[in-house]
Amino acid sequence: MVQRILFTVLCSLVLVIQASHLEYDGWLNIELYHALDVHEPQKFTSRGNVTITSLNSGASAVSQEPLTVHERNQLRKLAEENRLYRLEAHVLEADGTRSKFLTSSKACALAKSQLADVLWVSLDHAGSVTAVTQSVNNGNTDNCRDLTARDFEALDDFNTDVYVKPMESAPIPDTASFIQKMEREREARERGETKDNRGFFAKYWMYIVPVAILVLISGATNPEAAGGQR
Ligand SMILES: *[C@@H]1O[C@H](CO)[C@@H](O)[C@H](O)[C@H]1NC(C)=O
Repeated sequence: MVQRILFTVLCSLVLVIQASHLEYDGWLNIELYHALDVHEPQKFTSRGNVTITSLNSGASAVSQEPLTVHERNQLRKLAEENRLYRLEAHVLEADGTRSKFLTSSKACALAKSQLADVLWVSLDHAGSVTAVTQSVNNGNTDNCRDLTARDFEALDDFNTDVYVKPMESAPIPDTASFIQKMEREREARERGETKDNRGFFAKYWMYIVPVAILVLISGATNPEAAGGQR
């Protein structure tokens, strides 16, 4: 019984702590376009879509077209000439904000890695996107000189991992926004609008945790009593 209550309290705590990464969770869509044509560097064609369904958990869904034979040959040309593979990310955020980010990596590294790449989506403290960066393993590439036809034979599907990178907590206290927040709360109080609609555990966890720990300790030091309740 005691253990079950404690377990419930701890689970709720974990949820509350996770939920407090951002003040609210959000989603966003990213359309990916890449420039493959050596002769037309401004021509971007569709590569696929990424949907991040939860900014807090980083859960994402990736849907990408396989390369056509023509696109594979274009990528091969980029790689053989040691050009950059350029990727443009069109971001649509939950509040309707649209932004574009350009990122690039060595075409031969992308070919050598068999189209495996990582997309980092960086967020500011409010959960807005500040950067989309493509990262490709460059470990086994010697300036594109050791490319062979075999590297290109099976290039069709991108294998993309997406990571959401929230902003690190600032090392100095953000007094300006704290004061603004206090001001907003004061104004809301004056208008009689304040309501604390956080969950029960979000409001009272600092009281519940010590009590739960005390209960656990007394249960552990008195196993007979705990056993006797069953
Ligand atoms: C990506 O999204 C666009 C617009 O919603 C759609 O036209 C396209 O088919 C999608 N591509 C993939 C690979 O899902």
